[in-house]
Amino acid sequence: MKNYKEVIECVYADVKNVTDTGKVADYIPELAFVDPTNFGISITTIDKQNFGVGDFEKKFSIQSVSKILTLTLAYKFEDAKLWDRVDVEPSGNPFNSLLQLEADFGKPRNPFINAGAIVICDVLLSHLKNPKADFLDFCREISNNTSLNYNVKVAESEKKSGFRNVALCNFIKSFGNIKNDVEEVLDFYFYTCSLEMTCKELSEIFLFLTDDNFITIKGNRILTMSQAKRVNAIMLTCGFYDESGEFAFRVGLPGKSGVGGGIVAIHPDQFCIAVWSPKLNKKGNSFKGMLFLEKFTTKTASSIF
Ligand code: DON
Repeated sequence: MKNYKEVIECVYADVKNVTDTGKVADYIPELAFVDPTNFGISITTIDKQNFGVGDFEKKFSIQSVSKILTLTLAYKFEDAKLWDRVDVEPSGNPFNSLLQLEADFGKPRNPFINAGAIVICDVLLSHLKNPKADFLDFCREISNNTSLNYNVKVAESEKKSGFRNVALCNFIKSFGNIKNDVEEVLDFYFYTCSLEMTCKELSEIFLFLTDDNFITIKGNRILTMSQAKRVNAIMLTCGFYDESGEFAFRVGLPGKSGVGGGIVAIHPDQFCIAVWSPKLNKKGNSFKGMLFLEKFTTKTASSIF
């Protein structure tokens, strides 16, 4: 665990007292009920040592962090063919933007903006018999954790209020890049976003992106080395929407955020770290989460750069 433990304790105490200028996401009504003072960190190293502080064992809605998991499963099914449906370029736009889709003829810029993740969900619907159950089984196998589940209240709350996603899905379908029924695609998308995990569980489930030799409890490989390299690359360039450059600049690790206030970051061959603090900055990324990770990689000299 090197000196990670001491640094995490020290940076946690430091960041806890910083005035948080962020705001809890409330455009999904159910998310607004979360206690904004929650703050947790968990690190899992490649040799499966764990360390956590604060609220690291409380479940929360991982929201867009789930986009790594849906991308991974779709990539397993389609391999490089996947890139015919969704690109791998940073968008430089907010996560829910409709702007570029018209110029790009319905091909989303990358799998981590909402438009891209919706297309990925459509790809999965074409492969899975029971999409919600099969996706959950996949997540449970990677993490060796049968307690993982959707938060039905959050999913249904977003279903009632996710008008931009409805627009995105219909717009993409008008270009022929959604093959299944719009309602089914969105229902699946909202459930994947509602997946609940603790920081500890998040830091465990993404070990397959740090460890080239990772195999599941059932003896399955998740991604090839080349595929894992590419998922990490998309996280580095697109994981924080129009703040991806800022995250690379300040933290220097591949990562992914969600509007539930969670962030995961990967140090290939070393560790996965997860942070949760629900108040978000103007770009929709956890204010304290980013600050914590910036101080952590600086103090441990563990940016990839
Ligand atoms: O579709 C949405 O708007 C949410 N379910 C997920 C957005 C999200 O987490 C973006 N993250 N920073």
